[in-house]
Amino acid sequence: MISLLNKMTVEEKLGQLVQIAPFFFVRDLKNELYGPATELGLSLEQIFLTGSVLGIGSPEEMIEVQKRYLDNSRLKIPLLFMADIIHGYQTIFPIPLAMACSFNPELIKTMARISAVEAQTSGIHITFSPMADIVRDPRWGRVMESFGEDPYLNYVLSYYAVKGYQNDNITKEGSLGACAKHFAGYGLVESGREYNTVDISEYALRQYFLAGYQGAIDAGAVMMMTSFNLFEGIPATMNEKLLKEILRKEMEFKGVIISDYNGLKETMIHGISSSEKEAALNCMKAGLDIEMVSGNYILRLKEDFDSGKLPMSLLDEACLRVLNLKKEIGLFDNPFKGVSRDKHNEVVLSKKHLDEALKVAYESIVLLKNDKDVLPIIAKNKVYACGPNLHTNNLNGAWSWHGKSNSNETYHDVLKEKCNIVKNFEESDYIVYFGGEKFNESGEAKSKTNIDFPIEQLEEIIKLKEMSKPIILVINAGRPLVLTAIEKHVDSILYSWFLGTKNALAVVGTLIGDNNPSGKLAISFPRALGQVPVYYNHLPTGRPKNDYDNEYTTGYIDSENDPLYCFGFGLSYSKFEYDELIIKETTVEDDFTLKINVKNDSFMPGFETIQLYIKDTYAHVSRPVKELKSFQKIWFNSNEVKEVSFKITKEMFEYFDNKSKRKIDHGEFIVYVGSSSSNVKMVKINYVGKEK
Ligand code: NOJ
Repeated sequence: MISLLNKMTVEEKLGQLVQIAPFFFVRDLKNELYGPATELGLSLEQIFLTGSVLGIGSPEEMIEVQKRYLDNSRLKIPLLFMADIIHGYQTIFPIPLAMACSFNPELIKTMARISAVEAQTSGIHITFSPMADIVRDPRWGRVMESFGEDPYLNYVLSYYAVKGYQNDNITKEGSLGACAKHFAGYGLVESGREYNTVDISEYALRQYFLAGYQGAIDAGAVMMMTSFNLFEGIPATMNEKLLKEILRKEMEFKGVIISDYNGLKETMIHGISSSEKEAALNCMKAGLDIEMVSGNYILRLKEDFDSGKLPMSLLDEACLRVLNLKKEIGLFDNPFKGVSRDKHNEVVLSKKHLDEALKVAYESIVLLKNDKDVLPIIAKNKVYACGPNLHTNNLNGAWSWHGKSNSNETYHDVLKEKCNIVKNFEESDYIVYFGGEKFNESGEAKSKTNIDFPIEQLEEIIKLKEMSKPIILVINAGRPLVLTAIEKHVDSILYSWFLGTKNALAVVGTLIGDNNPSGKLAISFPRALGQVPVYYNHLPTGRPKNDYDNEYTTGYIDSENDPLYCFGFGLSYSKFEYDELIIKETTVEDDFTLKINVKNDSFMPGFETIQLYIKDTYAHVSRPVKELKSFQKIWFNSNEVKEVSFKITKEMFEYFDNKSKRKIDHGEFIVYVGSSSSNVKMVKINYVGKEK
C-alpha cells in the first residue's frame, strides 16, 4: 500500500477520508450538482476522489456506483460500501435489546453471520454494528439498538456480534467488517433525548461504559464510530484523549475511526470549532480518520498539507489505514466482491435463514407474568384475539431498512392457523390482547417523555376484564414501558419487543407452548418514569433503604426504589429451584470453583439462565452493589437436577481506581448466583491472593 500511497496527491489522500451517499454517483452529475451535492460543496472531480459510500439499496445499485466511480477516477481505488445492517439485512432478527435478553451469545453470532451473508450480496463491506453503548434510559429511542444496561453482557454480545459479522477473516466472501459505535458513552444522553449532551467521569467511563467497545475490539472489529456527544467538554469526534490515549493506546484499537453522520461539522455547533477549517483541523489532529457525509477534510485541509503546515505523516497514517482496510477486504483484487443478484436471490430470506430467525426470536421473548400458569394456552381452548397490533405486519422494529414488512405474517394470520380463535369474546376461554408500541416509536430520534403502557389500551383492557376471562397481554415495544398500571389487570404478560420477520410465529408458538420462554431482561423496567435511570449495578449510598429505622434513607415518598422488573428477570413455563452454593474453601488466593444444584421442578423442559454476580465489599473506590460476571444458559429436561459449576477467576475481582489503574484488593467479596439480579443465593469469600 505504501507504493500506492506514494503515487497519491494530497487531494487524493484526503478523498479517501471522505464518505458520501450513493446518489452522488448515480445521478446525471453534470446536470445535477445542486441539492445535497452542492451542500457538501464538492466538485465533480472531488466526488470521484472520495473513498467510501454510506448505504446501498441493491446489487445493481452497487455495481453501477462502483463502475461509474472506477471509470472516472485516476487511481481506480475501489470505493468501500458501508451500511447500517443492525439486526438483519432482509431476514430481520429481533431488535438488539431483545436479542440481548436471550443471554445467548451464539444466537447473536448467528444473526450477524446471516446478516453478513445476505448483505454482502448487495456489495456491502462494512456494517455500523454492534452498538456497544450501555443504556439505562428507556426514554432514549435507541435503547432498542443496544444490548442493555450491563457492561459484562455488552462485552460478550459485542464480541460475538463482531465474530459473526467478520467470520474471523474479512477477506472471505460473505464476511462484513464490523464498525462498533458510538465511542464513547453515547448511551448516557441526558434526559434520554437523542443527540443530547453527556457528562461522564473518567471513573464511570471505565467502571461501566468502555466494556462493550472493548468486546468489539477484542473480537477484531475493523472500525469504530465516534459518538455525537462530549467527553469532558470536548466532542468525541475531536477528542484526542478519547481517541488517541484511551481508544488507541489503552484499548489497543488498530482499525479505522469514522465520525457519525456530519459529526465533524457539528463540533462547530458544540461551540468548539469556530469554522469548518478549524473543525477539520481539530478532528484530523485528534485522530479521526473518515468523516461521515461531510467534505471538510478535502475542502479545508489541502493547502495546509501541501504547504507543510500540517505534517504529512498525519494524513498518511489515516489514509493508509483506509487503504489497508480495502486491501484486507479484497477490493483491490475484486472491487465487486460478493455482489451478485443470483446469490442475493438465493440467500435472502432463505428457509435456512428464516428458521434461524425464528430460533433467535423464540429465545428473545421475555415472560414477565404468568399467574396460575395461564400460559401456555391449552390446544382445545378458544381464544379471542384483539388489540391494536393484531393485524399489523410492521413487526421488524427500527433499523431494519432493507427488511420488508410485507413478507411478514400478522398475529392474526398465524393464530388462524394454529389456534381455535373465536369472533366474540363471550365464547372464549382466554382473551389475548396484542398491544404496546408501534414499530416507529423507537429508533434514532425517537425519544419519548412518556413511556407508560398506552392509556387507551389500558382502558380497553380494564373493560375486557369485566368478562372474567384470563387476559394474556402480548407487548411489542422498542423499549421498556412502564407497566405498573396495566400489570395488575392481566394474568399474563409476554414481552415480545420487535422480533423481526418471524415475530408473529414466535409469539404464537410461545403462547401455545411450542416454545418455552427463556428470555431474561437485559435492562431494568422502572415502576415509574421518575425512577429513571434505575439499574441494578448502581453504587451504594451512605444511607441505604431499610438500614435505619427512620425516614432519612435513600428513597421516594411515592415509590419503591427497586424496578418493577429487575435486570436478569424472566419467567419460564418450567419452575426452577436453586439450592445453596457449594464451595470448598471460603478463603481463596487464586481462581476457584463454585457449584450449585438447580432443579427444574416441573414437567416442562426448558432453558434457565443461571447468573453469577460479584460485590467487592471494600475497595479504593466505591464499587457497584452487584456486577454480573458470568452466566450459563442451560437446558433442563422435565424434573431434571443439574450441578452447575462456575469458575471464578481473579480477573473478576479487578476494577479501575480513580487514577485509572487496574486493582485487585485483599478482603471480602460476595458472590451471588441466581435466576435474576435480585433472586440470588450468596456466599462470602475472603480473597488473600496477589494484589494489584
Ligand atoms: C447516525 C447514527 O447515529 C449512527 O448510529 C448510524 O450508523 C449513522 N447515522 C449512519 O446511518
